[in-house]
Amino acid sequence: MEWLTEMRENGLALIAEIDSIDSLEQVRVELLGRKGKLTTQLRGLKDLPDDERPKAGAALNKLRQEYEVLIEERKTSFAAQKEATLADGCDLTLPSVAPVTPGNRHPLTSVINEICDIFYGMGFSREDGPDVELDYYNFTALNFPDDHPARDIQDTFYINDKVLLRTQTSPAQVRIMEQQTPPLAVIVPGRVYRNEALDASHVAEFFQIEGLYVGKDVSLADLKTTVLQFVTQFYGDDVITRFRPHFFPFTEPSVEVDMQCMACHGDGCNVCGKTGWLEIMGAGMVHPNVFKAAGYDSDKYTGFAFGLGIDRIAMLKHAIKDIRYLYENDLRFLSQFRSVR
Ligand code: DAH
Repeated sequence: MEWLTEMRENGLALIAEIDSIDSLEQVRVELLGRKGKLTTQLRGLKDLPDDERPKAGAALNKLRQEYEVLIEERKTSFAAQKEATLADGCDLTLPSVAPVTPGNRHPLTSVINEICDIFYGMGFSREDGPDVELDYYNFTALNFPDDHPARDIQDTFYINDKVLLRTQTSPAQVRIMEQQTPPLAVIVPGRVYRNEALDASHVAEFFQIEGLYVGKDVSLADLKTTVLQFVTQFYGDDVITRFRPHFFPFTEPSVEVDMQCMACHGDGCNVCGKTGWLEIMGAGMVHPNVFKAAGYDSDKYTGFAFGLGIDRIAMLKHAIKDIRYLYENDLRFLSQFRSVR
């Protein structure tokens, strides 16, 4: 019976080496298949002497059962392992860190959010206006004379005689006043469109934030306080500003607000075009004709408005040299703002 013991040990060793469903099948065929060793031995039983045959037969059958049980066990454990691997449709054998890059906010969105947050803190709320606007709201209701050069087809993208792409966020002022009664304090961020030749500081669509505050006895002092509050919160306490008289059809008086250049502290450099100052917004007291267009009584109410260009602010904040980067959606550029909130 020595050969039987040796055969058993060889067989058990083979089973122990099984490491996959494929090798399991190979071992099964080798041990139990029709041409396998065990079958050959069983077939040979008839040639054994009568007194040895029953004992050998019983031992071989017992071994066959042992093989079958062991192979079946291995088979069940492989199946369970596969099921665990694909639990819930997940392949748990994949690396634990997925190669997924998270997205981040566009620098313009971050700047808009940051500015809006400052104005929320002063009681303003955020509104929207349409990008495709009527000539009436973009110009007429804002007190632009019929022959004003800004209406010129060179600046404005007209869709037809009466419809255009807004060239400024100011038309939202009139729309909001038509819908709401004073007092009101609103800001309107949005995209504006102008037919510009493209270069490092000009694109044909860019962003502005409009502000409008209307109530009783609102004065230029309120405008100035609000603007200074914004500037110190956004740029810091030590920023120097100046208000310069200017002209806009929809405000009277009108001003432009400049900030001392933070790059050269007023000495004059490339950032500020050697002037020492950076223009940061247009503003003024709402013109009575605008109130009239919106149906407000200009004897009863006064108000101020302002408009800021967002792109310039984002460019200064992040030292972006060319405005076109903001609109090309190149991930190598955008992913640099991953840590900006
Ligand atoms: N709409 C002006 C522009 O695009 C900016 C502006 C100036 C808005 C004065 C205002 C304002 O609300 O009062 O140039």
